[in-house]
Amino acid sequence: MSKMSIALSVNGRPVQGELEPRTHLADFLREDLHLTGTHLGCEQGVCGACTVMIDGRPSRSCITLAAACDGADVRTIESFDDDALMARLRDAFTRHHGLQCGFCTPGLLATAYDVVRRVPDADRNRIQKEISGNLCRCTGYQGAVAAIEDVLANSPPEATLRALPRSQSTPRTTGASDDVASTPAMTAVTSDQGIPASISDGVRLSRSITMDGSADDVWKVLRDIPSVVRCVPGAQLDGETTGDVVRGHMAVSLGPMQPKFGGVGRVAFNDGGRSGRIIGRGSDRLSRSQLDGELNFALTESGPESSRVDLDIVYQLKGPLAQFGRPAVVEEVADRLLAQTAENIGVRAKGGEPDAQAAKAVGGFGLLWAALVGFWKGLFRRS
Ligand code: FES
Ligand code: FES
Repeated sequence: MSKMSIALSVNGRPVQGELEPRTHLADFLREDLHLTGTHLGCEQGVCGACTVMIDGRPSRSCITLAAACDGADVRTIESFDDDALMARLRDAFTRHHGLQCGFCTPGLLATAYDVVRRVPDADRNRIQKEISGNLCRCTGYQGAVAAIEDVLANSPPEATLRALPRSQSTPRTTGASDDVASTPAMTAVTSDQGIPASISDGVRLSRSITMDGSADDVWKVLRDIPSVVRCVPGAQLDGETTGDVVRGHMAVSLGPMQPKFGGVGRVAFNDGGRSGRIIGRGSDRLSRSQLDGELNFALTESGPESSRVDLDIVYQLKGPLAQFGRPAVVEEVADRLLAQTAENIGVRAKGGEPDAQAAKAVGGFGLLWAALVGFWKGLFRRS
């Protein structure tokens, strides 16, 4: 495979690299730069052990392509030796027994550092949610939570922000939303209104779902945007639909995390072929995660009173929620969502109204459990 050149800043030093485009940032840091304080656990974006700061934001280096960090400012645990806030966190983790074997600790400290700066008024519940993407098989988390509480209680937020280099206290933002951090890995080309014109790479998912109702009746539902949105659990339109542009939000429940993505999309229909395309971008304000997605669909008749929709989905998930973005978990979310949506469309195609329960966000602890099982399996295979 041909190599490419990148230039970035790592721990304040300019660094250049020649690497294969598929090289992950974690491998580049550990193997090329010998910064082995960045640990690798699951290598699937689940455990958080590999968390480093990219442009001042905690990011999973195992699922971030090094090539996407060209021009970025990367900070690993090795750069925090003289950092006043990190010194307080290290001290608090030691006093509260927030670590044992230390495998998770570099990633957990990076996340804790971000929590203290970003959510200075976080209570115990919020801290638990914020660090829920950093898995620890030793401590039971109580010590880590107590350590972060301790630092928050004893370090004024202004003081912690003053300790930061300017580039880290002023994160870059995209034109799509002020709530979303820019990540260096955006490959989507954006048009006006922040809608991606295309998504050149991402995770692909293909599905076929069958639903009650003739193709004519189902197409009428699909063609009516407010009607179809009411069939998607957790989804709601924001305001009137203007032309082919749709604004809305959608909630999903992932164990303790309940992201609500608000965003904008463009819809196109091909009535002759009974097919269509939706492309859009959403962001979750709380976690500062961003989702770009494109869905192509085609409707066919599968019986006198049943229809089949073939779906081709491609998505990119960026930010803290990318920990749950590995394909197995996303597929489980997508399958639950599609099954309920298909049932609701079937009801609507026959002139009915889906009940309120069927409109609730999909999710639950099962999804989180799937992520955890994958993590533990990977970790035990490794040890
Ligand atoms: Fe990156 Fe587990 S090694 S999230
Ligand atoms: Fe051992 Fe967290 S201290 S995994």
